[in-house]
Amino acid sequence: MKKLKVSVIGSTGYTGKELIKILLNHYEVELIHLVSSTFAGEKLSEVFPDFLNQLDKKLISLNPELIAQDSDLIFTALPHTVSMDLVPKFLKRGVKVIDLSADYRLKDPSIYREWYKKEHNHISREFLSQAIYGLPEIYGRQIERTSLVANPGCYSTSVILGLAPLFAYHLVEVKDIIIDSKSGITGAGRGISLDLHFPECNENMKAYKVTGHNHIPEIEQELSRIYSGGDNKNKEDKIKVSFTPHLIPINRGILSTCYLNLKDRNMEEKEILEVYREFYQKAPFVRIFEPPSLPEIKFVVGTNYCDIGFKIDKRVGKVVIISVIDNLLKGAAGQAVQNMNIMSRLPETYALK
Ligand SMILES: NC(=O)c1ccc[n+]([C@@H]2O[C@H](COP(=O)([O-])OP(=O)(O)OC[C@H]3O[C@@H](n4cnc5c(N)ncnc54)[C@H](OP(=O)(O)O)[C@@H]3O)[C@@H](O)[C@H]2O)c1
Repeated sequence: MKKLKVSVIGSTGYTGKELIKILLNHYEVELIHLVSSTFAGEKLSEVFPDFLNQLDKKLISLNPELIAQDSDLIFTALPHTVSMDLVPKFLKRGVKVIDLSADYRLKDPSIYREWYKKEHNHISREFLSQAIYGLPEIYGRQIERTSLVANPGCYSTSVILGLAPLFAYHLVEVKDIIIDSKSGITGAGRGISLDLHFPECNENMKAYKVTGHNHIPEIEQELSRIYSGGDNKNKEDKIKVSFTPHLIPINRGILSTCYLNLKDRNMEEKEILEVYREFYQKAPFVRIFEPPSLPEIKFVVGTNYCDIGFKIDKRVGKVVIISVIDNLLKGAAGQAVQNMNIMSRLPETYALK
C-alpha cells in the first residue's frame, strides 16, 4: 500500500512533538514536511535531541503551496486564531487537515468570537460547517468521510467522554452540573510565562480562568448535541456547566471530577456500569472502571486511553464521575492520529497501542 504523506505544522510545540513521535512509529505514514517558524533550517534533532539518529529531518518555514502539493494530510498544531486562515488553503487544494486548535470546534461563529475574540471570515466560515468534531467515540462515522477534523480540547475530551453516556440516555438533570478538572503543566503549551515557571507551579496547586475557561462552550456544545440526539436545535436542551480548571505540579495528565444530579435517585451503580459498558463497547481507547475502583492519572500517562470511573452518592442523589487522560495523547496528538487512522480507513488503534 502507498504510504500516507503527512506534514506537521507547529512541529516544535508540545503537541507537534508528540505527533511526530507517534507518526515516526506509524508504518503507513511517510513524514514529509515538519514546519517551524522559529527553527526553520535547523534539524528536528537539534531542537529536540531525543530524536537524534531517529529523525534528523530539517524543519522548514511555512510555505502552504509546497506543503499542500507534497502532502495527503496535514496536522496543524498551532495556537488558536492562527490555524483559522491557514486551514482553508490546504482544503481548497484537496488536502485533508486535522486541526488541533480550537478554530474549527465551535459550530456557531458568534460563540467563537465571544470566547476567542476573533471573527471567522467568509472563507473560514464556509469550512467551519464542514468540520467534524474529532471525538471518534461519538463521531466515528462522520470522521471517516470528512476532510477537516477539529481535534477536541484536552479538558473537553476528558469531560465529554466522562459524561456522554449519562446525557445520551438522559439519566441526569441538565442543571447544576459541576466540573472540577486538574491538569499537568504541558496543557498550557511550550511558551514561557511567569505563571508556568517551575517555582510558581512546583509544590503548588491553583485554580485559573475560573468561570471563563474557553473549553466551556465546546463542552456545552457537545453535551447539548449528545443530549438532543445530535440535533441541537431545541434551545431548551442547551446544557450549561460550571467548569473550574486547576494546574497541578505534574508534566502531563488531566483528572476531571464531575458532579451531576441523578433523575432517578434510586439508580444503582451496576445500572450505570452497564450503560457505560454498552455505550463504549466499540471504543478501543475508553476503559470503564467498576466501583469502588477508580482511575488515576498515572494509569493513562503515555497512553491514548481515557479511563472513566464513578460512584453514586445516595445521600445527595448525585453521581460523581472521574475521567482521566494524558492531555498530550488522548487530549491532543494521540486522538489526532486516531482521527487520521479513521479518515484513512486504517485500523483505529494503529501506532497507538
Ligand atoms: N498542550 C496540550 O495539552 C494541548 C491539548 C489539546 C490541544 N492543544 C492545542 O493544540 C495547539 C498546539 O498546542 P501546543 O501545546 O503544542 O502549543 P505550543 O507548545 O505553544 O506550540 C505551538 C507551536 O506553534 C508554532 N506557532 C506558529 N505560529 C505561531 C504563533 N503565531 N504564535 C505562537 N506559536 C506559533 C510555534 O512553533 P514555531 O515557532 O516553531 O513555529 C509553537 O511552538 C493549540 O491550539 C492548543 O490549544 C494543546
